[in-house]
Amino acid sequence: MASGDLDQLRQEAVDKIIFHATPKAWLEQAGPWILKRGEGALLYDADGREYLDALSGGVFAVLAGYGRDEVADAMYEQARQLPYTSPYGTTSAVAVELANKLAELTPGDLSASFFCNSGSEAIEAAIKLSYHYHQANGEGHRYKVVSLRRGYHGATMGALSATGWSPGFGLFRRVADPVVPVAGYTTAMPPYCYRCELGLNHPSCALACATTIEQAIMGSDPELVSCVILEPVMGTAGCIIPPPGYLAKVRNICDRYGILLISDEVVCGFGRTGKWFGVNHFDVVPDIMVVAKGLTSGYAPMAASIAKREIAAKIPVFFDVHTYGGHPISAAAAVANIKIIERENLVDNALTVGTHMIDLLNGLRRHPIVGDVRGLGLFMAVELTQHCNTREAFPPEMGVDNQVAAIARDMGLFVRPLGGTVLLAPPLIFTPAQAERTVEVLDAALTQVEERVLADVESTGS
Ligand SMILES: Cc1ncc(COP(=O)(O)O)c(C=O)c1O
Repeated sequence: MASGDLDQLRQEAVDKIIFHATPKAWLEQAGPWILKRGEGALLYDADGREYLDALSGGVFAVLAGYGRDEVADAMYEQARQLPYTSPYGTTSAVAVELANKLAELTPGDLSASFFCNSGSEAIEAAIKLSYHYHQANGEGHRYKVVSLRRGYHGATMGALSATGWSPGFGLFRRVADPVVPVAGYTTAMPPYCYRCELGLNHPSCALACATTIEQAIMGSDPELVSCVILEPVMGTAGCIIPPPGYLAKVRNICDRYGILLISDEVVCGFGRTGKWFGVNHFDVVPDIMVVAKGLTSGYAPMAASIAKREIAAKIPVFFDVHTYGGHPISAAAAVANIKIIERENLVDNALTVGTHMIDLLNGLRRHPIVGDVRGLGLFMAVELTQHCNTREAFPPEMGVDNQVAAIARDMGLFVRPLGGTVLLAPPLIFTPAQAERTVEVLDAALTQVEERVLADVESTGS
């Protein structure tokens, strides 16, 4: 595309599109990034530049990679045959096929899917499902939700209210606070061992973070609590992996008080962490599982709240409705996508390549500004600190994580800066060579940023 045309396209995008959570100042200075095409784990922008996508499309969605004709063909065929069904008592064969597949893949007796369009909607549906379930059991007084600080569950008001504070999302929460009855939402401590809120160490802590969930329940009146929502591996918070025994302890607490456990697998689902679902690492079966993103690998919008058989059976009518819930074209994309993940053993690939990549990332600990490296499967975080020995975070206004990501992007690598951490979540098709290239670029970006930071420190004499 000629550079004049491209400039105009960028300007029109700035003027005519309201971007999601993107500062106007950044858009006006750097311009929106206009992407044109993708192939495998590679992206090409309108300038014709190639990027290695170590972020699955920016928000952990594109698991099977770009350019999958099989998914596109399935969507096309479905569009020709039957593009739409209403969600009221109507469905399609392909949606039933998908529901069957989800029942087969998910652990325990999770078996009934409520289909909707986004992770946020599916979180809201899960909250409503638990409420309906308690109501059917004669416990309609249970309405409160316990979630984790730093957790992220979506941008719609109910999901946002369950979103604990996390870097950058404090502002989002302030938008929700005046509208949603926030008194119904309580947060507990995240299982963030690197920055334990209580200053404890595992295992001598005896999983005190899980105990704070029980305390939150007691503080809210256990008779009024409906559900606990958490991500098995916390994504937006910076790939926080709970210590062994944590999730089992939470499951136990929920059972003791008759509270449902909702696992938000919007990021973790479909192989991201090297197993089909995040909870599989911890041998825990939630009462409701929420999936989105990797369900269709981003080829079409779709999400699901998957409930245990017993829960779905108890609810005589579920009062939630979305015009496009169970959309046949999205369902066709999901079925084709899951076939690819199974046939190409992408879950195993995530574990193998992810383990290799985490080994390499651990080598970056020689940079003083690398405080921590964490990862599970193809989901990783490099947490930046003023010095690894002090663990002191950089002031957010320094934007050190943004600087690393910007240099990486200039070098043709797409990673995500978030709250002082660089997040990596490549498509599950990533090869060992692509993993090596990613770490090489990150290493170079960290070296440059480190030099700048040290020069700043020297010039300010601090
Ligand atoms: C863990 C988690 N839950 C829920 C959501 C919300 O999903 P969506 O953006 O599709 O509404 C997200 C989005 O990033 C997420 O990371």
